[in-house]
Amino acid sequence: MIIAIDGPAASGKGTIARRIADVYGLHHLDTGLIYRAVAKAVLDAGYSPDDTAHAIAAAVELDPAKFDEKSLKAQPITEAASVVAAIPEVRQALMNFQRQFATKPPGAVLDGRDIGTVIAPGADVKLFVVATPEVRAKRRTLELQAKGEPVDEREVLADLLRRDERDSRRTAAPLKAAPDAHLLDTTHLSIDAAFRAAVEIIEAVRTGRKRR
Ligand code: CDP
Repeated sequence: MIIAIDGPAASGKGTIARRIADVYGLHHLDTGLIYRAVAKAVLDAGYSPDDTAHAIAAAVELDPAKFDEKSLKAQPITEAASVVAAIPEVRQALMNFQRQFATKPPGAVLDGRDIGTVIAPGADVKLFVVATPEVRAKRRTLELQAKGEPVDEREVLADLLRRDERDSRRTAAPLKAAPDAHLLDTTHLSIDAAFRAAVEIIEAVRTGRKRR
């Protein structure tokens, strides 16, 4: 079983994906970490994230076994990740790894921006998770504060909007719902309620109560 979970920044897709993978006993891949790792490699080598040649080289050389999730979640890397992610050759270089991951038995949950549209268009279930920008900014602010990072909610909101815009407008695999994705709006939902709503959709699709 392959479950594709896409959506904009801080919509709740990562948390939902992890919990879904847990209850169904599936592998989980947070594909944002891959783009973050490429961005970090470029920045660490002293280059700008829009230096296309170095970003492509970093993507080709990436070893996905070596991710340090904590260091990849820092704000400068977040912004740079969305810059390298707009380069078509970077996306191309990372595609095989993601597709192979998706087909690992007994199945996988992948979350990102283009899972249902590009990486796994034949996924058994596709969710597109959204929430208002204000609610997403609030969640991301609390998340960063809990990690001890100094944050200003208005700046977090501005960062999210800029990144959503860049991710949606790029020509290579833009952030958008697949035509057969099920929309899940988490604006007014707690983490538990959002998770239950996701399970509800997955079960409805699996039992044929909802079209795929
Ligand atoms: O957690 P958050 O939504 O803030 O970020 P993320 O999922 O880790 O993704 C960071 C950036 O990587 C996004 O802004 C996208 O530009 C890019 N990305 C992508 O292009 N395609 C994916 N499948 C996943 C992430």
